[in-house]
Amino acid sequence: MAEPAPRWETWLGTRARVRELRGLQRNDAPRGRVFDLASNDYLGLAGHRQVRRAAADAALEHGAGAGASRVAGGTFAVHRELEAGLCSYAHRQSALVFSSGYTANLGVLGALGGPGSLFIIDAHAHASLIDGAKLSASAVATAAHNDLEDVARLLHANREDPQGKPRVLVVVESIYSVFGDAAALPKLAALCAQYGALLLVDEAHSLGAVPRGSAVHAAGLAGASHVLSTATLSKALGSQGGAVLLGGSGAQALREQLVNASRTFIFDTGLSPVAAAAALAALRLATPERLAALQSNARLVFEQLRSYSHLADRVDAGAGAVHSVRMSSSAAAFRATAKLAAAGIAVACFRPPSVPDSISRLRLTAHAQHQGPELEIAIRTVARTIAEED
Ligand SMILES: Cc1ncc(COP(=O)(O)O)c(C=O)c1O
Repeated sequence: MAEPAPRWETWLGTRARVRELRGLQRNDAPRGRVFDLASNDYLGLAGHRQVRRAAADAALEHGAGAGASRVAGGTFAVHRELEAGLCSYAHRQSALVFSSGYTANLGVLGALGGPGSLFIIDAHAHASLIDGAKLSASAVATAAHNDLEDVARLLHANREDPQGKPRVLVVVESIYSVFGDAAALPKLAALCAQYGALLLVDEAHSLGAVPRGSAVHAAGLAGASHVLSTATLSKALGSQGGAVLLGGSGAQALREQLVNASRTFIFDTGLSPVAAAAALAALRLATPERLAALQSNARLVFEQLRSYSHLADRVDAGAGAVHSVRMSSSAAAFRATAKLAAAGIAVACFRPPSVPDSISRLRLTAHAQHQGPELEIAIRTVARTIAEED
């Protein structure tokens, strides 16, 4: 009988060669000291003294990990405090924290999914939303990116179809992670209300990173029962973890369903109390002043990039802190990223399959703590490097 191992070896070798030929290898090398235009630590809070102190105190008090699932003794007082802190920060009624933003998305979609549910998902939605929809055993329809008419068409088609699903959930991101563009939340929420659907907004790139701290709140939807949001604690809040946030009179019933039916809440070890305490400390530091500094630097990054003639029509203007520059190939994107890293500047290299339109990009994120002059120098180096490598 043939041994299976050589087949796996052949397959692994083929996969590696294909990645190499297409210039699509990923790199998980440890980060050195760099000028950071790559991470999602938008407010610079991951290394903030008070955040580190809160994490250290929590580690000394509770230990490093939660030790069990949230429903099996892994809930600590700090989880509850964090949930209350998130509610008050985002002006929502109820919250549930998870071990990551990824598991929060899997959890909420799983708990609301099943044979009677239809998920209408934006074509650019994050992998965690797509995976959550797939795992939920719901019917899934993909709406063209940021296209309200397509969402309306799909809602209407389901209602008219005698076999249509009785429960519908529309899934979007507040600010899309690759293009940086924003969803039209008030219009989407109105459309969902009209069809009796729920709206799930992934606030990964907006909680603590947009004016008023939350895109759902800024859109006047924090009190809406039919609008659910998810968030990560690992971007603007500089920690690790995720959350589901709920509003209005339906919040309690939804939270109850999540606690009892989210597989990533029930079968995953609870968020580390260290990460929870760090996120709670970060929430208190995500002040309007820091948010304003982030907005101002995001504008600066965009204007600087656009001021270079070879980049002017290649920049995707972000609605938040994310801007990206389209590159001619994945190899050029990879070369430019590596050269910038060698020059001490970190930018993110987004290539297929992480880009919804298959166009490779350098993705630049603004940070609140950057000073204007050093930011301008860094963007000048980015512009020169792109000219040299693309
Ligand atoms: C839009 C979006 N949702 C969810 C996640 C997952 O969050 P986490 O890193 O906390 O698992 C990310 C992170 O990359 C994201 O960009």
